[in-house]
Amino acid sequence: MAVTIKQIIEALKYQKEVFGDFLFEKLDKERVNYNLAPEMKVSEKVTSSLTDNLFVEEFHNSTSLTELYEKIHQCQKCPLGKTRTKFVFGVGNPNAKAMLIGEAPGAEEDRQGEPFVGRAGQLLNDILKAINLKREDVYIANILKCRPPNNRDPLPVEMETCFPYLHKQIDLIKPKVILCLGRIAANALLNKKLSLSLLRNAVFEHDGIKVVSTYHPAALLRNPHWKKDCWEDVKKFKSLLDQL
Ligand code: URA
Repeated sequence: MAVTIKQIIEALKYQKEVFGDFLFEKLDKERVNYNLAPEMKVSEKVTSSLTDNLFVEEFHNSTSLTELYEKIHQCQKCPLGKTRTKFVFGVGNPNAKAMLIGEAPGAEEDRQGEPFVGRAGQLLNDILKAINLKREDVYIANILKCRPPNNRDPLPVEMETCFPYLHKQIDLIKPKVILCLGRIAANALLNKKLSLSLLRNAVFEHDGIKVVSTYHPAALLRNPHWKKDCWEDVKKFKSLLDQL
């Protein structure tokens, strides 16, 4: 991935805001230690040293969502651990056939510790109702468990760091169909870089699970004329579910 100097400076300013000068000293040391030429390696090294230093809990062998939550809810693997109010693990039926995956908690989710409880969440409830589903019938989670400040887009390094948690949730829930809410969530799950229209027009697979995508509910709030297309997407999602 091409990373510009401007992006690196922004990322470093953000790290400094959260960790102070300590990280900057460490970063300089890392740079010397690893003789880093390509700038991207810097953030990778920073992340791995944060991981080594601050996060020791083993979570891969969790056998239930409760156990997984206990192991990860104090995560400090990335700087969002310092700025979050609550860790937003996920909510719903632990045996759900369908999972809905969003991008990252917003302000209200950060306050309450539950995904999709703000205005976008109200709309999501209505969308579910339109296909005869309730929140309790499905499992709802996000790519990131912590809110990015000012609702900015998740950074690639944050998604990479947090993704194993979602992967483990999927592994425990074993859904048959996943509905991704928005381009960022879909591309992160599928490890692709596609436009939303390409994502919406196909049924993908992730570990043998069918994956369909639609607009993020927050985008629908801003552009209500997209609701018609969203309706087609969720009907496709429901019909995959009904075919099981
Ligand atoms: N947007 C998301 O992607 N997830 C939430 O939980 C809330 C808003």
